[in-house]
Amino acid sequence: MKNTISVKGKVAVVSGGLGLIGLEIAKVLADNGAKVYIADILRSAKLKYSGIKLVTMDITDENSINSALNTVIKKAGKIDIFINSAYPRTGDWGVKLEDIPFESWKSNSNGHMGGYFLSSRAAAEKMKKRGGTIINLASIYGVVAPDFSVYSGTDMTMPAAYSAIKAGIIGFTKYMAAYFAKYNIRANVVSPGGIFNNQHKTFVRNYCAKTPLGRMGKPADIASAVLFLSSDASSYITGQNLIIDGGWTAV
Ligand SMILES: NC(=O)c1ccc[n+]([C@@H]2O[C@H](COP(=O)([O-])OP(=O)(O)OC[C@H]3O[C@@H](n4cnc5c(N)ncnc54)[C@H](O)[C@@H]3O)[C@@H](O)[C@H]2O)c1
Repeated sequence: MKNTISVKGKVAVVSGGLGLIGLEIAKVLADNGAKVYIADILRSAKLKYSGIKLVTMDITDENSINSALNTVIKKAGKIDIFINSAYPRTGDWGVKLEDIPFESWKSNSNGHMGGYFLSSRAAAEKMKKRGGTIINLASIYGVVAPDFSVYSGTDMTMPAAYSAIKAGIIGFTKYMAAYFAKYNIRANVVSPGGIFNNQHKTFVRNYCAKTPLGRMGKPADIASAVLFLSSDASSYITGQNLIIDGGWTAV
């Protein structure tokens, strides 16, 4: 069992790959031998990293998704791994429950959950002949409700739509695991807890105090799990939600 966690020779697409978590996932996959395409809505980004190329893709737009995936197929011949780490949200993301306009709720559900549906379905289509693996990023908040006490003393909160969207992504990914299994396409979810990103000091202190491992997550904590689920070392794992949260949901 030497070097079993390998993605050497595989072609991976990481949507939202210019973001906090997505970029680390892209780098870890590239460092472990995959040819990686970051597919992000950001057009102007420049990135120089061995093994990583950029394509523009908007996960809320079917034409954009098809064009990006076709570009990858044209250049690399196949797609083995598709990771969804995009995080579309509206300008009013973060207002409290009582104040959420219904249009905002719909727009975030359509863009985020709908975008994960559109892009992972399109990726699966490209994998039907050879098999492949799809990993969607959800969250602990798709599994448990936020503990609002960690936000006290700050103006931060966690939007209600996020819980609905992430629970939906977990359910849909399980559906895909069952539906696409006959093509040897695996579909799994990775659900991170809070990732440290210079948040308000009070929030960080509250969050760490509640977490059994006593710290917030790092992008690398998530990327190593994604590497495992992308590799053949996990070839009998499908339809699962791997929660990476320092123990938050265990207590
Ligand atoms: N950061 C956290 O603490 C945390 C915790 C749990 C789960 N997550 C989940 O992890 C994933 C990544 O989060 P993050 O913190 O890296 O987010 P981020 O905001 O740092 O990055 C998101 C990326 O998605 C891109 N994007 C936005 N809309 C897009 C679209 N329509 N099409 C394609 N790309 C688009 C952005 O340009 C950006 O590069 C998300 O699903 C998020 O919900 C994050």
